[in-house]
Amino acid sequence: MGGFYVPTKIYTGESAFENLKKYPIHNICIICDPFVAESGMIKKPMAVLESMGATVHVFSNITPDPSTNLVGEGVSWILEKKPDAVMAMGGGSAIDAAKAISFMYQKITDSPKPLCIVAPTTSGTGSEVTNFAVITDSATHNKYPLLDDKLLPRIAILDPTLVRSVPPRITADTGMDVLTHAIEANVSTLATDFSDALAEKAIRLVRDYLPRAYRQGEDMEAREHMHNASCLAGVAFNHASLGINHSIAHIIGGRFSIPHGRANAIILPYVIEFNSHMYEKHFQTDNRAAKIYAHIGIIINPGTYVGPQAVRNLTVAINKMNKELEIPSTFKEAGIDEKTFMELVPEMAEIAVADKCTATNPRTITKPQMVELMKRIYYGHGQK
Ligand SMILES: NC(=O)c1ccc[n+]([C@@H]2O[C@H](COP(=O)([O-])OP(=O)(O)OC[C@H]3O[C@@H](n4cnc5c(N)ncnc54)[C@H](O)[C@@H]3O)[C@@H](O)[C@H]2O)c1
Ligand SMILES: [Zn+2]
Repeated sequence: MGGFYVPTKIYTGESAFENLKKYPIHNICIICDPFVAESGMIKKPMAVLESMGATVHVFSNITPDPSTNLVGEGVSWILEKKPDAVMAMGGGSAIDAAKAISFMYQKITDSPKPLCIVAPTTSGTGSEVTNFAVITDSATHNKYPLLDDKLLPRIAILDPTLVRSVPPRITADTGMDVLTHAIEANVSTLATDFSDALAEKAIRLVRDYLPRAYRQGEDMEAREHMHNASCLAGVAFNHASLGINHSIAHIIGGRFSIPHGRANAIILPYVIEFNSHMYEKHFQTDNRAAKIYAHIGIIINPGTYVGPQAVRNLTVAINKMNKELEIPSTFKEAGIDEKTFMELVPEMAEIAVADKCTATNPRTITKPQMVELMKRIYYGHGQK
């Protein structure tokens, strides 16, 4: 079944919140992380909403990688407020929590879904335009990507001034999340010309603007383009879905509290090698994924590369980018305890193979192959 549509209305620029005046909002719940509330950033949408005469309630308890317990707490809170709109303001964690809370609210009350508005304050997850919400099981620490069209926000506010304060470490991690979304969407088995166009543009924007945003957070041209790149990659993967890079990042992030984007960045070169069959006997670039990786390699690092060298060019370019952004090159370097990791690998591999994102990976993967891949990401090449 073909087709391409973007159900979320996207407003951009410093005055983007003004567009809320077009909607009949009377009673709104803002769900955000503490930074958003404490930094005063929340005053910008509040001024607009109050000028409209809306009653505004704020829930600012969101913590990174929102848990089932936190979502439960948010649902109890929102049930008392009975809003006609919900606004998420924060990074992917606040956005996913808000999406899950309003979804549950609608299920429980059987009322019309509150108008869902999302204003991202990091340039990373693209969650403002996706039907995903990643929630962590409070008991097992496994992360589950929930997938339902009812999770799709109606309105996305891309105001670049909201990301000016993101520190370099989080700029780097979230920026590499954007690159991973775009690359995984590009090689996904569900990719189309439409999603490819958006993914490729996102890759070019990351190439040109992530190093600038990382080095100089006040560079608003770089911030604006990275914010757009995040959203473009979000639309691309909402259409084409993702792959095993995210399957592995979900379980590693949940079990070892590695920030989502950093986990993706560490994993990315190894998944490219696996998907393109780089370490198998007669490595050829005649498989679909390898051809696409070669093309992306030339976008990121233009040159006269052909065949296997063009795919290696991509992994070399990503390793170089990770180094520049001070991202570790292995799970070991990221500080994950060796004994704990090795004990958990069989179970984590099973969970990663069953993750929803695995279904659209360009190469199928068995549990033993996943164990081997995870160990390779732990030690890197040439070690153990
Ligand atoms: N739903 C999706 O489509 C999707 C896609 C990818 C990832 N995710 C999920 O999103 C979460 C990660 O989101 P994230 O990478 O945006 O990080 P995050 O939301 O966890 O935020 C990371 C940190 O950045 C801080 N922060 C946020 N905005 C800031 C600002 N403007 N200035 C300074 N600090 C700021 C937060 O307070 C927090 O401490 C993970 O749980 C991941 O699994 C969801
Ligand atoms: Zn991601």
